[in-house]
Parts: sequence; structure tokens; C-alpha cells
Amino acid sequence: MKILVTGGLGFIGSHTVVELQNEGFEVVIIDDCSNSSENVLKGITAITGKTPIFEKLDLKEKAKVEDFFKRHHDVEGVIHFAASKAVGESVEKPLLYYENNIGTLVYLLKELSKKNKASFIFSSSCTVYGQADKMPITEDAPVKPAESPYGNTKQMGEEIIADTCKVTPGLNAIALRYFNPMGAHPSTEIGELPIGVPQNLVPFITQTGVGLREELSVFGDDYPTEDGTCIRDYIYVVDLAKAHVIALKRLLEGKNKENYEVFNVGTGKGSSVLEAIQSFERVSGKKLNYKIVGRRPGDITTAYADTTKANEILGWKAEYTLDEAMKSAWDWEQKIRR
Ligand code: UD1
Repeated sequence: MKILVTGGLGFIGSHTVVELQNEGFEVVIIDDCSNSSENVLKGITAITGKTPIFEKLDLKEKAKVEDFFKRHHDVEGVIHFAASKAVGESVEKPLLYYENNIGTLVYLLKELSKKNKASFIFSSSCTVYGQADKMPITEDAPVKPAESPYGNTKQMGEEIIADTCKVTPGLNAIALRYFNPMGAHPSTEIGELPIGVPQNLVPFITQTGVGLREELSVFGDDYPTEDGTCIRDYIYVVDLAKAHVIALKRLLEGKNKENYEVFNVGTGKGSSVLEAIQSFERVSGKKLNYKIVGRRPGDITTAYADTTKANEILGWKAEYTLDEAMKSAWDWEQKIRR
């Protein structure tokens, strides 16, 4: 069965391609390589023994998207990762984000609407909850006004899919709301490859550990949490990748209750920034150079998932601990800097 993975050379995309191929799916990747590299194909091949079909294509080029679906009329499911994801950049360049993340989603849904039957998995984010009033966060927590154009594209993306599913009986979709993805494949053949200075915590920690950055700035220790630093739900990328395959199978097998569903994907456990640093120090045996600085504008205090819905309905559960995920991130960092 042929599955299209957009953004399949990216961090979460590449790990999902591996899990799909391990389950016997035939994978076609579309990626414009704006934030990824064709070398990732080698890593996927090394792990799975199979090279996915790859087309370098920019989803903003509508005619090329139409042409792609003509040539690959047998695509039965799409996992849509391709999107821009830097919060700060989205504030500077909102139209780039709306065009990249919304325009391309519309083109894909148009093509899928032409089919009698199609399954669609969307990369959403816990960012849609903003600072939720209650922890852990359930899927029915209110969606808060977005703090950035990036966050807005995830909220609007969900609405666009829900509206389209309402009037397109053959289209079935699931939005997965990721918490904080981290780590690398245990083989160290694929992992996270941030371009330039990492904005996210874990790659900044491992790059500091390996000596590429002098020190980590911890953004604020005066939050109303036990140690004063922000709390997040760090989910191992391989666990997250598996959630996509399970969600896709649910749609392909017609097991979904509604034609648009939403699931949180997290561990259910919150960890503070200092706890993440301690985890790094445990698994690496190294002291991390860090200092406490002021808060980062736009950061929320606490976010961790209630995963009951994914556990019970999808039958999916995160299996790896923070230390295991951190160890994989550290192994990967050391490998790519050798
Ligand atoms: C960020 C985005 C979120 C996006 C997610 C995935 C914001 C406000 N949110 O989430 O929309 O979906 O990335 O890419 O940008 N930290 C430090 N020092 C650092 C980096 C981070 O102390 O150098 C802290 C942050 O303050 C935060 C935690 O580490 O408390 C995690 O930060 P990060 O990895 O950027 O993820 P989020 O902010 O949760």
C-alpha cells in the first residue's frame, strides 16, 4: 500500500518513514529539502534495507502537486509533515508561514478530495492549547488564541481539515498534537539536524555537551513550578513516529469513529528544564555548562499531555523514558560531530 509522506526527510518525518517501511508500507517522500538533506535517504536505507521513492518537490507549486497525484494515483494515505516550524521566524515572516503551512495543506486536501477514499494524518502541536488551565491537558481543553503565526497555522490547519472532512465522505483524517519531540533513532543513522543555532532545548543541550555551543541559557527560573523552570512533556521521536503508523492504520482499516479525530501524543509526564539537564548529565557523564537568564517571551509555564485517549482508543503508549531518549540524542550528536 502506497503512502505519501510530505517532509519525509525531516526529523519526525524520517523516523516515521522508517516505521512505515518496517510495517511493509511502500513510501513516497516529497520534500523540498529547505530544512533537510537528501543524505537522510541513506540513513533510512541503512536501517530498513529499503530506499523509499523520493521526489524533490515544493508543495507550493500547485501544478506539480496535481501532476504528482496523477502519476501516483495509487497513493492511499498521506502523512503531512512538510511545514515551517520556527516560532520566531513566523512572527517576522507571517505570509511565508501562511503560504507554506496553509497553502500547501489546501492543495493536498484538494487532491485527496478527488479520490473515492483517502486517509490523512496531520502534524499538529500542543501549541494549540496555549497555557492550558488544567494539567494534564486533555484533547477537549479549549484551543487558545495563537501566540504566533506558526501556532495559528496549526490551529487553522486543524479547522481546514475538519471543515473539509465534513463535506468529503471519503476523506478520513487524524490530527496528532505533539508535545515536545526529541531524540534520534537508536541506530544513530537518522536524527535531528537543526540548521544554525538550535531554538529547541534538547539539540541546544547536546550541542553544548559536544562543545559546539559554549553554554546553554536556561530561560527563567522564576516560574511557579517546583524548581522554577518551565515544564514540558518530552516525547521520544521513535514513539511519536509509531503513533503515526498506528493512526494511519486506524483510518486505512476504517476503525475511526468519526472522519476527523484528534489525539495528544506525549508521555503524560512533565519534566522541567533543569530535569532535562540532569538527564543529560546522567546519560553523558558530563557536566553541562549552563546559566540562568531571563524568560523567553511567549513561553508558557507548563504543558504535559493527558494521553488516555491515545492509550485507550489508538492503543498507543510512549515506551521510552526521558533518559533513554536523551541518550539517543547524545549518541546522535556525538556521531555527527565526529
Ligand atoms: C516550541 C514552540 C512550539 C513548537 C515546539 C516544537 C515556542 C514558544 N514554542 O515549544 O510552538 O511546537 O517548539 O518545535 O517557541 N529552553 C531553554 N533554553 C533554550 C531553549 C529552550 O531554557 O536554549 C526552554 C524553554 O524555555 C522551554 C523548554 O526549554 O521551557 C522547551 O523549549 P523548546 O524546545 O523551544 O520547546 P517549546 O518552547 O515547548
